[in-house]
Amino acid sequence: MNLPPVLGAATSAYQIEGGRAERTDSIWDMFSDQGRLANSGDVACDHFRRFGEDIALMADLGLDAYRFSISWPRVRSGGLEFYQRLVDGLLEKGITPYATLYHWDLPQEVEDAGGWPERETVDDFERYVTTVVDGLGERVENWITINEPWVAATLGYIEGVFAPGRSDWRDGLAAAHHMLLAHGRAVAVIRERSPRARVGIALDCRPSDPASPADADANRHFDGFRNRWYFDPVFGKGYPDDMELSYAKRGRWDGSVVQSGDLDAISTPLDFLGVNYYTSIKVQAGAEESEKGSVPPGPNPPRGFTEMGWENTPAALTAFLERVARDYGPPSIVVTENGASYSEWPDDQRRIDYLRDHLGAVSEARDAGLPVDGYFVWSLLDNLEWTSGFSQRFGLVHVDHSTQVRTPKASYNWYRDLIASTRR
Ligand code: FCB
Repeated sequence: MNLPPVLGAATSAYQIEGGRAERTDSIWDMFSDQGRLANSGDVACDHFRRFGEDIALMADLGLDAYRFSISWPRVRSGGLEFYQRLVDGLLEKGITPYATLYHWDLPQEVEDAGGWPERETVDDFERYVTTVVDGLGERVENWITINEPWVAATLGYIEGVFAPGRSDWRDGLAAAHHMLLAHGRAVAVIRERSPRARVGIALDCRPSDPASPADADANRHFDGFRNRWYFDPVFGKGYPDDMELSYAKRGRWDGSVVQSGDLDAISTPLDFLGVNYYTSIKVQAGAEESEKGSVPPGPNPPRGFTEMGWENTPAALTAFLERVARDYGPPSIVVTENGASYSEWPDDQRRIDYLRDHLGAVSEARDAGLPVDGYFVWSLLDNLEWTSGFSQRFGLVHVDHSTQVRTPKASYNWYRDLIASTRR
């Protein structure tokens, strides 16, 4: 395989840390208190206390890099030191830290003041980023600004199924714009205060095809709603005209949240583009704004579905990477998340197959000359999968959430051997 030079694993703060008493609340704590999560993240994987053990697991795995996220609520409560200790521990073991500044855990106080639909949240975020970069910028050289703005804006502010649970299209599109602007401002802060840093954003994607030729328009709309609305502005193309028109017609968008200079800030050139990839779908007319209404390709697709109900479609990853390189020309691409929920352990052969096939897809993209320079497995640990709680297991390492005992799965050993083979 033509593997990327950086092989890592990823996690996020709310999904693993716990340590709730040591920080102010986030919108996910509120969601949890309202009983809207299958399990609470108050303790999660107790990584806040057990990070030393987790770093030892990463070192034994041989990771080149570890992607984690910084909790804005924790930093707001003066808890940056936790990340300094984490980063020191990683560097001691020769593991390169990739820090994500926002992986969905907005401080509840900021939400109470209006949250992402309000422009002030961007200023607040910028102050937080300044604190973090001043505290970690000497030791962290790889930064990811925002994780998956589509999910945070759409599921959080339009569909209301994720925290903070609001359901209003105008708020959702304003939230999306402000997250993109927050990204742009963060890039500037990082460049100014940590000149050696490399900066990117992690965009989620859902490559799609029309279910039938009659569904071509629906598919184009889905792609605009799900992918282009984010990729286009980040790469200097502004918001896609067809989508602005369609949203305006439905009274969701009049562009008034976009102030002069915003699109320039959003499209500040990046060092790398992070792409999070899990699955692709077929779109049918009537389901152009829903991932659920789309048609599964039959009961038994060739590689089956993961336990999230996501079809296992590695070839679509290669095709999407080609498209991103062609349409947007990023200087470097990093697959910042890829992985599968399967509950069997310790012998998780289906996860090994999924990861091998997707790394094969990345290799093919590299063979075709695309600059795919990194790949991160989601996830190091079985963690709290948002509203699904502990029921969806993505880890290379099994976690028993009642005892916090960690047990490497077969996929962990497989990935360790693969990484070792690149170093021979
Ligand atoms: C992504 C999220 C990540 C995890 C995986 C399964 O959308 O970024 O936190 O939940 O999905």
